[in-house]
Order: sequence, then structure tokens, then C-alpha cells
Amino acid sequence: MNIHRLIKGGLAAGLCVTALATGIRMAEAKDWRDPTLSPDERAKLLDAELTPDERIGLLHGPMALPFKIERLPEGAIGGAGYIPGVPRLGIPALKETDASLGVTNPMGIRPGDTATALPSGLALAASFNPKLAHDGGAMIAKEALAKGFNVLLAGGANLARDPRNGRNFEYLGEDPLLAGTLAGESIRGIQSQNIVSTVKHFSLNGQETNRHWANSIIGEAAHRESDLLAFQIAIEKGQPGSVMCAYNLVNGDYSCGSDHLLNKVLKGDWGYKGWVMSDWGAVHATDYAAKGLDQQSGEQLDDQVWFGEPLKQAVAAGSIPEARLSDMSRRILRSMFAAGLFEAKPAPAIDIAAHEAVAKQVADEGIVLLANKGILPLAAGVKKVAVIGGHADSGVLSGAGSSQVTSHGGNPTVIPVGGEGFMAAWLRQAFHNSSPLKALRAALPSATVSFNDGRYPAAAAALAKDADVVIIFANQWMSEGLDAYDLSLPQGQDQLIEAVAAANPNSIVVLQTGGPVLMPWLDKVGGVVSAWYSGQKGGEAIADVLTGKVNPSGRLPVTFPASLDQYPRPTLPGWGLPEKQQFDVVYEEGSDVGYRRFAAKGMKPLFPFGHGLSYTTFTYDKLRVKGGETLTVSFEVTNTGTLQGKDAPQIYLAGAAGKKLRRLIGFEKIDLKPGERRTVTVKADPRLLAHFDEAGRQWRIDGGDYDVAVGPSAAQTVLSGKARVSQRTLKP
Ligand code: BGC
Repeated sequence: MNIHRLIKGGLAAGLCVTALATGIRMAEAKDWRDPTLSPDERAKLLDAELTPDERIGLLHGPMALPFKIERLPEGAIGGAGYIPGVPRLGIPALKETDASLGVTNPMGIRPGDTATALPSGLALAASFNPKLAHDGGAMIAKEALAKGFNVLLAGGANLARDPRNGRNFEYLGEDPLLAGTLAGESIRGIQSQNIVSTVKHFSLNGQETNRHWANSIIGEAAHRESDLLAFQIAIEKGQPGSVMCAYNLVNGDYSCGSDHLLNKVLKGDWGYKGWVMSDWGAVHATDYAAKGLDQQSGEQLDDQVWFGEPLKQAVAAGSIPEARLSDMSRRILRSMFAAGLFEAKPAPAIDIAAHEAVAKQVADEGIVLLANKGILPLAAGVKKVAVIGGHADSGVLSGAGSSQVTSHGGNPTVIPVGGEGFMAAWLRQAFHNSSPLKALRAALPSATVSFNDGRYPAAAAALAKDADVVIIFANQWMSEGLDAYDLSLPQGQDQLIEAVAAANPNSIVVLQTGGPVLMPWLDKVGGVVSAWYSGQKGGEAIADVLTGKVNPSGRLPVTFPASLDQYPRPTLPGWGLPEKQQFDVVYEEGSDVGYRRFAAKGMKPLFPFGHGLSYTTFTYDKLRVKGGETLTVSFEVTNTGTLQGKDAPQIYLAGAAGKKLRRLIGFEKIDLKPGERRTVTVKADPRLLAHFDEAGRQWRIDGGDYDVAVGPSAAQTVLSGKARVSQRTLKP
């Protein structure tokens, strides 16, 4: 017990100083200021001191932007959200910022304030490296703290069910283990800095088209084995202070008013102790409080401040129990204590170079070499390089919406896309100040590196014809609020690539996309690199991968299909419907998201989940599979090439007690020198071997032989083995 801190902090009336000083703790002497008490105890004690109005005050707040409100509340920092504190008791206000890819500055509300932009979530997921998720989270949290925020709205863990989803770039791919693990590590990184992290959007926010009226339909077992499992893993690993419910409905109930999702699954089955905040403009009634929602965020976007006066009246009328009101505020206070918000230390100054190094590392490990006919890395003596398109002379593309970061150095190119007022500020293609062209010129000082903007295919082809090697940048801009209509590269870029490749087959395509795209020109080019949205240092990372300074080690966290017909919904549900008209998004693939469904249907994608090439080679051998309560798999990986490189070997379940399936049950990112050998051992999370038993409300593992496949992607098995797993059930 830190008695000095207690005395300095001011003791609550009735606190028995003598008893504390002599070390005798009397029950009535417990004080919420005592940092040695658990967050639960402190929250309970502090909550008991709140008046009903103070309690209600913690349960709602506005978006901290001058949108539908005249000015920001006093003390708010311009950004995503603000919940006033209780100065009388020293309860700090919640100052919330968006943060999936860096601290945002929506509408330039904090003039001149820039932040380090990480590559997109898909790039992070492609690194298959949980440590980078942790480092990225800690980096964003440090910047947020220095800017005065204490809640990060980070940690998107929705699965990429549809390759057209406009927000796939913010998320972590199509697999629950990969997405859950990385989201969990990112949350851990954030909260290591005494700041609250949020995991979002709970759940099945699988498309942006008319997202407020999309009713996601899925069976309970399928949901538990896919999207919910990603959230469950993320929450177990990261213990986020808050969970953000989503805009959409799930099986007929709005997710922020879903008793099933919030009360039964999240708080009941999973024992989640933090608070549920709404997405901005996702609350439609006061009784969401009874259904498990704890806080209304961005309240001016809703029809009413439901959790203000109406909630007060509902409590007075007895339709919402007073105990529930206390539960709501207690959950918020508990997370504030758990994250250390009451003991906040002054934030150290931001070390921009160190933070940019984190962004660079994520880009280095997230860039995926998809195809290479021996053209990469670029030959050391290359003399004439033609760079074409994608605004590569200016910077690297980023995705738009609430995750958009105003990066250091400003945006050298901003292309307005449309919309009015608030929307116009969102709908912009913004490039981060990291030009791949400049980086290539610096990396290839003895080559002539020319540029053509690619507007006219014939002019680009003329430049290409004369070059030793051609690098074409192809962009697919994606944004929150918008889905892609299909998977073609927009604005005639497929035709541009065809024309350039016809002029010079020594062409490499660098894709800057928000997710999978089709490649009708694939067999006509020498190589393809997926750079996703590569962030603050993307240009340098792309140049380093192309020139071989960095050996590529990214692996696809989403399947790249051969055609859109390989997905269950050929037309985007809701496309073209008027606002306010609800429609169903039937997730008929169930838990077979992405590669799982490709395997179940025997379909061949363009590039499978997990795929990614290297400039060295790896072999796998000595597989051992142990059964029992779960599977423990070990094998050896050897770098058989001549260059140091990182590999991400993957372990899949290929069959469970006679049932064929394919599920990622483990992966590891390893760095090997030429000739070096390493043993990889993975103990599978037993839920990945199980199916969810809806009636029994539990996970059930059938006893029997379980097949394991080890390989460099979901579609390629190098080693296979099996072991007996015993029958058992696990809590939900
Ligand atoms: C997004 C959230 C975001 C919030 C606050 C919403 O539109 O869906 O992800 O955190 O805005 O900016």
C-alpha cells in the first residue's frame, strides 16, 4: 500500500488513516484511490460514490467534431469521441481517438497535427508476426498519449468474409486464429502504455454497403467457429477495456441491442468485464442498456441521446434496474483502472524516427511476393527502369474513412472522390509522403529510373519498350462506407498493365489494394507484389523488397480468388437499395470463411491464403504429431537457399474424426540464415479442433484421428500426419 499516494490523493471521509498506517486494513477503510486494490474493487468503491446524474454522465458522449453540435464540449480534444469525467471525484474524461492504423485527425480538427501511419491491417496480418502487432499497438498508443487521448478505438477483428468489403484493409484477414492472435497482441501493445484499447466491430460487420440496415444471418455454431472465435481469442489475449458493437443487425437484432451477443455471449459465456461502447450512430433505443450496451458513443449521430434523459427516466420508471445502471458505469471505471488511467503519467515526447521504423518493419514483413518468374530481386546491374502509374512519383496510397491517418510530411497527393460536407472530407484518396519512385532512385543510383503516370496506356507502353525492367503500380482505393463493386482494378488499370506487358514482358506489377483483386494479365508479367496500403515508409519498403535489400516474407491473410463466382454472394446484398430498407446478408458459407470454403468445395483460387514467395527456399521435415486433449505439432524448417530470410510455416487441421476440413491451427514467423534449421512447435487451441454444440452451449471435440497438414499455404501440403484426440467438451 502506497500510503503517501493515498494521503496525497486525499482520503475519502471515514477512511481510517491509523488503521492503514499500521497495516490493518478494515473493510470500511477501503478507498478506490488505493492502487493495490483490484480494478474490480476500485470500480465498485468509486461507483458507490457517484450520484445518479454523474453515473448517467459516464454513459454517453458526443463525437468530438463540430458536426451537428456547435462546439466541442469543454476539455474535449478534437477527434472521434468524448465522455466527460467527474472532476469532483478526479475521474478523468474519456478522450477517444481512432487508431487502427495510427492516431487520426478527422477533418483536420487539430490543425497541423500529424501521426505515424502504419500499413493497413491486412499488411500487418500478412506479416504473420504477432510481435509486430504488439509493437504497432504500443507505437500508436504512445502517440495517442502524447496528444492527450486515453482511449484508442483500435483493434478491428472482423473477418474478411467478402473480398469486396470496403473495410477489409482495416481488418486482419479471413482466419479467426490469425486475426484473433494479431488483434490480441495489438491490444496488449496498446494497453501496455496505460491507455484503453477497443476491439471492434462486434460482430459480423461484413460489408459496408448500407451497413446500417444490413441484417447478417448466420447459425450460432457457425458464428462461434468463425467471427466470434476471432473476437474471443483477441479478447482473451488482449483483455481490451472496451468492445465496440457494430452498425449492422445480427439475426434480426441490432448488434448494439443484441441481448444474445452482448449479455449472453460476451459478458455471460466469455465473462467479459470491460464495457461495451456503441459504434458512432448505432444506437436506436434506450432499452439497449438492458440488452448489454454500456455506453452510447457519437450521440449526435443517433436520433436521440438515448443514454441521457431517456435512460434516467427508464431507471426512474423501473424498466431499467438501478443495479444495471451501476453495472454500466462500474464496467467503464473498471477498465479505466485496469488500464491505469487514474495513475496516468506525463507522456514522453514522440520519437518519430523510432515510430517510423515500426511502420517500415510492418511494411517490410507485410509485403507479399505473389509471383516471380525470376525477375525479382532486380538485377544489381539494371540500367534502365521504367516506373509507371499509381502516383508512385508522389507517395503510397492509403485507405479512407475513420482510420485515415494524416501522416507525417503531409499528403503529397489527395484526390477528392465526391460527396458533400463531412463526407467530402472522408472520400479522398490520400497518399502518404513516401514515394516509391524516389526510393527506387535512391536504391538504384547507377540506373536511370523514368516515370510515366499511366494515364495513356500507349505512352506508358512506349516508355516500357525501351526499359530493362518495368514496374507498374496499380491502385485500388477502398474506404469505410463503400464496398468495391467487383474485384477488377478500377479506372482501366488492367488495360494499362496489358499494354505495358505487351510492350515489355519484363514487367512487375506492384498492387496497392485494400484486398484481393483479379489479375487477368497474370501470365503476361514477370512478377507481382502485393504492397497493400504500405504506410508512412511504404515507398522505401517497396523499393527494398524489389531490390532485394529486404527478403519478402509476407503471406496472404486472405484468399485471392480466380473469380468472384467463387464466393457465395455474386451481387453485394443491399446494393442499390434505398437507405433505411433492411435486407439480409445470408452468410451461407457459415464458418467456412475464405480458404476453408475453397477447400470444402475443391475450388482453386488465384493465390491461396498463406501464400507468399521468398528470395530463398525453405524445406520442412521431421513432423511429429501428438494427440490427447489437443494436437501438439512439431517439425523442422531449414533455409536451403543462399540468403537469409523469414518464413511463416503454417499448420492446418485437415480432418477431424473422419470429417474433412481445413483450419489454420498454428503458425510461426521465423528468421533463418542460409543453412539454418529450426524446430517449430505448436499446441493447437482445442476450440479449433472442435465444433460448437449449440444445444449444449459448449465446444465439443469428437474423439478420433485428427489429420494435420503442414505447408507454405492453405493449398499446399508438404508434411502430413495424424494423431488421436480424445473426446471432450469445453466451456463456450
Ligand atoms: C466507425 C468506427 C469508428 C467510429 C469513430 C465509425 O464510423 O465504424 O470504427 O471508431 O466511427 O470514428
